[in-house]
Amino acid sequence: MLYKSYVRPLKMVMITNLVTVFSLMGVFAYGFRYGVGGLSMNYYLMSCPFAEPSIKNTVNRALQDDPTLAAALIRMHFHDCFIEGCDGSVLVDSTKDNTAEKDSPGNLSLRGYEVIDEIKENLERECPGVVSCADILAMAARDAVFFAGGPVYDIPNGRKDGRRSKIEDTINLPFPTFNASELIRVFGQRGFSAQEMVALSGAHTLGVARCASFKNRLSQVDPTLDTEFGRTLSRTCSSGDNAEQPFDATRNDFDNLYYNALLRKNGVLTSDQTLYTSPKTRNFVNAYAFNQAMFFFDFQQAMVKMGLLDVKDDSNGEVRQNCRKIN
Ligand code: HEM
Ligand SMILES: *[C@@H]1O[C@H](CO)[C@@H](O)[C@H](O)[C@H]1NC(C)=O
Ligand SMILES: *[C@@H]1O[C@H](CO)[C@@H](O)[C@H](O)[C@H]1NC(C)=O
Repeated sequence: MLYKSYVRPLKMVMITNLVTVFSLMGVFAYGFRYGVGGLSMNYYLMSCPFAEPSIKNTVNRALQDDPTLAAALIRMHFHDCFIEGCDGSVLVDSTKDNTAEKDSPGNLSLRGYEVIDEIKENLERECPGVVSCADILAMAARDAVFFAGGPVYDIPNGRKDGRRSKIEDTINLPFPTFNASELIRVFGQRGFSAQEMVALSGAHTLGVARCASFKNRLSQVDPTLDTEFGRTLSRTCSSGDNAEQPFDATRNDFDNLYYNALLRKNGVLTSDQTLYTSPKTRNFVNAYAFNQAMFFFDFQQAMVKMGLLDVKDDSNGEVRQNCRKIN
């Protein structure tokens, strides 16, 4: 809160470049897994100079109409990157021969596809065939973080769109029933530290979970769940599997209340509360709960890094004409 009120824009711009340098160093340390070859800052400066402002305008307009879409865009980018790399595979529609990622049960309420379509249509008019859907999604998520009051940061671009989107790949998403060890393992497989995993989970400062995603906690006594909050969750579930429970008290504000909720055993998913229960991650939760600036800094660094996961280049990717269809 304090951070937001007076130092946000200027200071964040200054540290952004540093962050990028650090992230890219991280990339080299992790080697080819990040396939950072084609990515660079200001990638579209010559080929489509208004790409970034155009994306930001469309995102801002969409979020002014419906602020809950900020959560949707950020989550979509996460799902994109964690399955087959950040290659727009989450955007592809199923066809009669292929059931795409988005039709998996793990898609649970993914939405915001129309925003991406609108951005893509605008950009295709200005500079046809230039801006990839994977980059659009990465930039839209970045702009959504800022719109919701989170940190502003710069990301490298140049991701190409993948040619594969299969329902069976979504098995690689972390489950909401995971404990801290399992979360550390699956994020570790992608090169993230436990601390980075905790910082990324802070995206749950935005949005909601549906009863189906947390009702596992209500069938027996859960000592990691506050009694009163347990009643709140049960009340939500009395309206059915699709009933929505905000992750924290400010579902459209990017802040550190999510971590504060964990301190009070008010986490919604098993995978949220476990971050505080487990001694392996508790100190990070404490740190972010008490220091929002630290959360913002670590979050943006981790997001830049997530945006580099297994990116495609011209040898194994393309720039889709329509984000829903492989060319
Ligand atoms: C740590 C492992 C994670 C698990 C197990 C997980 C799981 C989930 C689940 C089950 C939901 C609710 C879906 C529903 O019931 O409709 C959700 C929502 C959400 N997740 Fe995660 N998530 C994780 C990490 C992340 C990360 C890394 C990000 C982004 C950087 C993210 C962003 C979001 C957002 C913004 C929402 C709210 C979506 C909305 O309101 O439309 N999550 N997540
Ligand atoms: C998610 O998958 C279900 C099938 O499991 C499908 O009916 C639904 O349309 C998908 N949602 C989105 C937003 O694509
Ligand atoms: C976490 O889950 C795994 C797999 O279910 C289990 O083997 C492990 O004991 C759990 N760890 C803790 C600390 O509960």
